[in-house]
Amino acid sequence: MMGPLNLRPILKNHVNFPVCLAPMVGLSHVGLRMLVRRYLPANAKTFWPTEMLNSRRLPNEDFKTTPETYRSDTELDLVPQILGNEEEPIAQSVQKLTDWGAIGIDINMGCPVKKALKHNYGVALMGDADYAARVVDMTVRNSKVPVSVKLRAGIEDKPEELLKFVKKLESAGASWITLHPRLAHEKRRGTADWKKIALIRNELKIPIIGNGDIQVLQDIEDMFNIAECDMVMVGRALTARPWLLWQLGSKLGFENPEGLAGSAPNTHEEEGAEFAKAFLYFVEIMEEYFVPDLALRKIKFYLRTSSPWLEFGHILNAKISGCTTYDQMRGEIEHFFAIPQRMMAKTDLRI
Ligand SMILES: Cc1cc2nc3c(=O)[nH]c(=O)nc-3n(C[C@H](O)[C@H](O)[C@H](O)COP(=O)(O)O)c2cc1C
Repeated sequence: MMGPLNLRPILKNHVNFPVCLAPMVGLSHVGLRMLVRRYLPANAKTFWPTEMLNSRRLPNEDFKTTPETYRSDTELDLVPQILGNEEEPIAQSVQKLTDWGAIGIDINMGCPVKKALKHNYGVALMGDADYAARVVDMTVRNSKVPVSVKLRAGIEDKPEELLKFVKKLESAGASWITLHPRLAHEKRRGTADWKKIALIRNELKIPIIGNGDIQVLQDIEDMFNIAECDMVMVGRALTARPWLLWQLGSKLGFENPEGLAGSAPNTHEEEGAEFAKAFLYFVEIMEEYFVPDLALRKIKFYLRTSSPWLEFGHILNAKISGCTTYDQMRGEIEHFFAIPQRMMAKTDLRI
C-alpha cells in the first residue's frame, strides 16, 4: 500500500496516515470531523476539510459566527476548500483562512451544481484549462500555505484532455491534486473510474489523492492498487463507517484511537452496534456547536447519507426526520437500536 510519504514534505508534520475525509457541503462541518476524528488512531495524523467556502462571501464573514467555519480549538490541521475565480476575493479569503490557521487551501473544480456553472467556478473551470490554471496561479501567489485542487475527470470523457488539464495545474503551482474520477454530468451516478487516477498519477510529479466510491476497508486497498495514488479520500462512507480509520490503522500497525479499547468493529452486528454509539456521540457534538434548529437539520442530513448502510436504515430515518428536539432524537435512537441492528458492507451509493 502506498502512503502519504510524498505529501509529508508538503504538509510538514501534519500527515502520516493515508486516508482523509472529503469536503462535503452540509456534512464536513466540525460535527462530522469530530466524529471521524474519534476513530483516528492515536498516533495517526491526517488533514481535514471544511465545507465548500465561497470566496466571494468569506472576506465579509465572521468565522466565529458562520456555521461553515465553526471548528474545535484542537483543529490545527484544516485544509479548507474554497470556490472562486477572481483574484481579489481569493486573495482576501486565503489571507483570512491562513491567519485562522489553515495549513493548506483546496480549490474546488468539481462542484457540478447549476449555480457553479452560472458563475463559472466549480467544475465549470474544467471547461477552460488556461483559465483554471490562472485561478491556481492567483491562489498560489496569494498564499503562504500549499494549494491543492480537487477536480472531476472532466466535462467530456477525454483522458488526453484530463492529462493536459492537470499538467497545467501542476505547472501553475498546485501542490497536489485530488481526483474524483466521474464526469461533470454524472454528478454522483455511475462508478468512479479509478484507472483515471492512475493515469494522472503516472504523468505528474506532484502527489495525487484518489477519491470515489470507497465503502469498506478492502476498497481502500483496492484503490491504492488500481489507482496507485498517494492517499485516499473518503466521503460518504465515513459518515456511516467512521471506524474505517480504526480498521485501517489496526492493519497498518497504528495504535487504537484514544479512549477506545479492543479491536475495531468488524462484523455486520458489531458495526450495527457501533453505528448507534457513533450516532449518539454525533448528536452530542452537534448540540455543543450549533443552535438547535440548524443542528437538528444537519443531523437529519447526516442520517440520510449514512443510514443506507443500515439494514433497516429507512425506518430510523423516518423516525428521526420527524424529531423536533435532541431528547426525542436520543429516544428514537435508543429505541431503534434496542433491537440489535446490522450494517451492510455495501450500498448502491444513491446519495
Ligand atoms: C452531500 C455531498 C456534498 C458534497 N460537496 C462537495 C463539495 O463541496 N466540494 C467537493 O469538492 N466535493 C463535494 N462532494 C463530493 C465528495 O467530496 C466526493 O468527491 C464524492 O462524494 C465521492 O466520494 P465518496 O464516494 O467517498 O463519497 C460532495 C458529496 C456529497 C455526498
